[in-house]
Amino acid sequence: MNATETLEIQAPADGQIGAIVSGIDMTTVHNDSPAIQEIRNAIYRHRLVVIRGQNLNEEQYVQATRKLGRPQVYFQTNYHHPSYPEIFVSSNVPENGKKIGVAGTGHYWHTDCSFEKHPLSWTSIYPQVFPKDSRGTLYIDMAKVYQNLPDHLREYVQDATAIHAGQLRYKVQASDIDQSLKQLLDRINEEVPPVRHPAVIVHPVTGEKALYLNSGFTVALEGLSHEENERRLRELFDFIERPEHIHQHSWSTGDLILWDNRLLIHMSTPVAAGQQSKSYRIGIYDDQPFYAGIES
Ligand SMILES: [Fe+2]
Repeated sequence: MNATETLEIQAPADGQIGAIVSGIDMTTVHNDSPAIQEIRNAIYRHRLVVIRGQNLNEEQYVQATRKLGRPQVYFQTNYHHPSYPEIFVSSNVPENGKKIGVAGTGHYWHTDCSFEKHPLSWTSIYPQVFPKDSRGTLYIDMAKVYQNLPDHLREYVQDATAIHAGQLRYKVQASDIDQSLKQLLDRINEEVPPVRHPAVIVHPVTGEKALYLNSGFTVALEGLSHEENERRLRELFDFIERPEHIHQHSWSTGDLILWDNRLLIHMSTPVAAGQQSKSYRIGIYDDQPFYAGIES
């Protein structure tokens, strides 16, 4: 069957994010199919894309992301699936009595890998075990936030450079025992030193401007005193994280969720105590620079 004949992309209502894609089987569609190009375009246009009705094993999930771009292998191996390093496992469900992946990931506003020199273009999520109460992801459209910025906040970010660091979000591992916090922090700093990105980025494909700041990883605006920096970032984060900017997607079985990290920040919703949750993630690099003008 030709995938483009059945592919359906339901665009979101005006001013909303998230397109619903149906009528495609990611295991059979070909890399160079027009359907794959349409999904790529939908990620740029609608920021968030939910491909419904997928039934993928681990190998098929990795292959599906290969059709869309270049899968990331996350730099910290404790997140890796034991057989598929591309799969980042967020789970509190032991397998054969063994801990797999990392529990309680991403419960703060962030965009994946903004603390790296070349941040991750897209993120995909393929949930495995659903907690009894719904689990989902919250999103904020940062192009929209940029458009809505009041003048005094716009002045803070116009031509500003922000510093991003992942240090304080590091998840302690069993192998860290007997190390001091200072030793751990120094090691992380060496592995992933803080990086600089423009506070406002231009999307390389759509040309949209978006605010590129997140309270999870953005630690400073360059060139300010400590007090002034704290004050400005607090004001900016309070504005960004206003309830009217937040969009929630609740996961359903068979959803393959994809989003553009250039335009959205996100946060996982919490898992209630005693409930099991397991989700797979694969980061995907598209073939574009992260933002217009980034040095390679
Ligand atoms: Fe994330």
